[in-house]
Amino acid sequence: MQTHTIAIANEKGGVGKTVTVINLAAALNRLNRKVLVVDMDPQANATKGLGVSVEAGQPNIYGLLSDPDAADAHQAIVSTAWEGLDVIPSHTDLSGAEVELTNEHGRENRLKEALADLPDAYDVVLIDTPPSLSLLTVNVFTYARFVLVPCQTHPYAYGALQALFDTIGAVKDAINPDITVLGILATFYDHRTRVARSILDRLKNEAAYRDLLFKTVIRTNTAIAESADKGRPVVFYRRSSFGAIDYTQFAEEMMARLD
Ligand SMILES: Nc1ncnc2c1ncn2[C@@H]1O[C@H](COP(=O)(O)OP(=O)(O)OP(=O)(O)O)[C@@H](O)[C@H]1O
Ligand SMILES: [Mg+2]
Repeated sequence: MQTHTIAIANEKGGVGKTVTVINLAAALNRLNRKVLVVDMDPQANATKGLGVSVEAGQPNIYGLLSDPDAADAHQAIVSTAWEGLDVIPSHTDLSGAEVELTNEHGRENRLKEALADLPDAYDVVLIDTPPSLSLLTVNVFTYARFVLVPCQTHPYAYGALQALFDTIGAVKDAINPDITVLGILATFYDHRTRVARSILDRLKNEAAYRDLLFKTVIRTNTAIAESADKGRPVVFYRRSSFGAIDYTQFAEEMMARLD
């Protein structure tokens, strides 16, 4: 069985990366897929959103990156309340890894080395990334086979897409020839606003994006923000909400694209 490694990335902040990681993981869990979430954002929002808190001294992603030889990925895996949905948690110390790794040889390979002997029981590994092109994100792009790009249906987010695609292209040329954009997921959609409709139309029509755009669109939904606060994905927390419906449909569409 093959494990699909998928980075969820967009250098633009607040476009729905973490919410997508959390709820895609939950929706895949409900489809009986085994999922590991790797939280590579020092903000640790994916960790918290899955109801996991990291105690002092507990292994986490920072330990794996700072000393991949000594650290053991298996020990850093934490179970969530949902069987078959695990997480390698983040920690605020991760924000220091950027500086510490800057002068180290092979610094972009740390995550790949650390996760080299992950249990192959996982169907999907989802990696959350910070909102910047940092060394942390480059580590994720060195490891992952696919990049899933959430794009807020807003002009700023649309305008930032080209820079992200350029970055992924540069990583492909220099470091990871296998990396591929899996697709673009439109988020924060509200059909009542002209600007959201207009950006969705541009995603559907622009030659560079239309074949990548997923048919499923994630609607703006307040239950999503509430669920993050409760540490429960909306897919589990409120099954009849737009958020749960949209992410479940998206999980099915994404797996069809992968299989
Ligand atoms: N579809 C949605 N409807 C309503 N609120 C949403 C939706 N998606 C995300 N949010 C809320 O918007 C905020 C930003 O979302 P999220 O944290 O997923 O973005 P992000 O891209 O991970 O941000 P960052 O770049 O800071 O990591 C959060 O408060 C989240 O709860
Ligand atoms: Mg985030």
